[in-house]
Amino acid sequence: MSYNFDEIISRRHTNSVNYEGWRPYIFRNDPNISFPIPDDKFIRLWIADMDFATPAVITNAIRERLDKKILGYTSQFDPDYLEVLKNWFQRRYNWTINTDHLVFAPGVVPALIRLVTLLTSPDENMLITTPSYTPFKMAGDLNNRKVFYSPLQNNAGYYSMNLADIEAQLADPTKNIRLFVLCNPHNPTGRVWTKEELMAIGQLCLSKNVWIISDEIHCDLLRKEQTHTPLATLFPSYEKVVTCTAPTKTFNLAGILHSHIFIPHQQIRESWQKRYWEMQNPLSIAATKAAYENGDHWLEALKLYLDDNLGLLQQMLQEDLPKAVYQVPEATYLAWVDVSAYSTDIEAVERLSTYFARKAGVLVEGGDMFVDNGKGHIRINVACPRAVLQEGVTRLIAAIGNER
Ligand SMILES: Cc1ncc(COP(=O)(O)O)c(C=O)c1O
Repeated sequence: MSYNFDEIISRRHTNSVNYEGWRPYIFRNDPNISFPIPDDKFIRLWIADMDFATPAVITNAIRERLDKKILGYTSQFDPDYLEVLKNWFQRRYNWTINTDHLVFAPGVVPALIRLVTLLTSPDENMLITTPSYTPFKMAGDLNNRKVFYSPLQNNAGYYSMNLADIEAQLADPTKNIRLFVLCNPHNPTGRVWTKEELMAIGQLCLSKNVWIISDEIHCDLLRKEQTHTPLATLFPSYEKVVTCTAPTKTFNLAGILHSHIFIPHQQIRESWQKRYWEMQNPLSIAATKAAYENGDHWLEALKLYLDDNLGLLQQMLQEDLPKAVYQVPEATYLAWVDVSAYSTDIEAVERLSTYFARKAGVLVEGGDMFVDNGKGHIRINVACPRAVLQEGVTRLIAAIGNER
């Protein structure tokens, strides 16, 4: 079976955040920002969902569930669902999940916000690496926890954790850091942390008795030569590792609001279960089961298409923006591109997101949207039909070219 990732699908009138929600999200509805380009002429390479059709095995499963006619209160009682979930993680990551540890959340972000409350007390703080997916910081801010940053080290676009800095911060009693949030694979840099890196960071947290939330939502979207190691497989008896996973990035299902959170620590898990209502959306249950049971074939085809899109981006940058620094990400469909060689004058007067929206009619997320340590960078989402990507990158290059 083949899939048509080149299909251009209109997202108008679907309440799509990507299509319709960009003004509040990127520009905070700033009344002082206006664009000379009509909305429907923008190319949207920003928020992390895809412009590809959700696989038919999933939409058909949702239809079949609808055909059962009643959408009453639903929870997860089907043992086959758990088997499907177990098989997915076993066959793809050699991870034997313990389904007794499983709780559901309407997304990894809502789970992060809940977990910060449950894992830390008001005087305890947390550590993230930067650049960072913004909701990591938001989860701390919303819970009034201090969020400390450890900047990732950037070696020509290849990022690594600064373990000495992390160790020093975890050991600093004035910071009182009790929670580390790991993004594995990492958004926005695309790193797939190696076993050695994960062992090192895990050991550090374990030695300081610090909680780890391992957000592994991007783990299925790997380049060919990469393997994902779930942190929990390296520390099977450390109960302070919470793993967040979801089928939603992988299968373009973010709207179903469904994620799987593994909490080995019994007391924390019970607090979660008491506090949050364990009901699910019947369509999300049907979609997830179908995705993990029958979605592999589509996923493998998707990954090949993404590899080629990332390659195309690399080629265009090498040819027309040779001073941009870009490494093909080891995972995700998000390219983290250092355009600082071209952007100093631009950033002196406006955000990169604003500049590219205004000059190129292209929506990308600038480095300022990733908490810290992102100056001079843009994140380009390549999960769109190739022709759209090509047009978007051509416009980005032209916009910078005009400034050179
Ligand atoms: C690292 C990371 N975690 C979580 C999310 C969102 O998770 P959810 O849609 O399940 O809330 C994203 C989306 O971009 C992400 O990049």
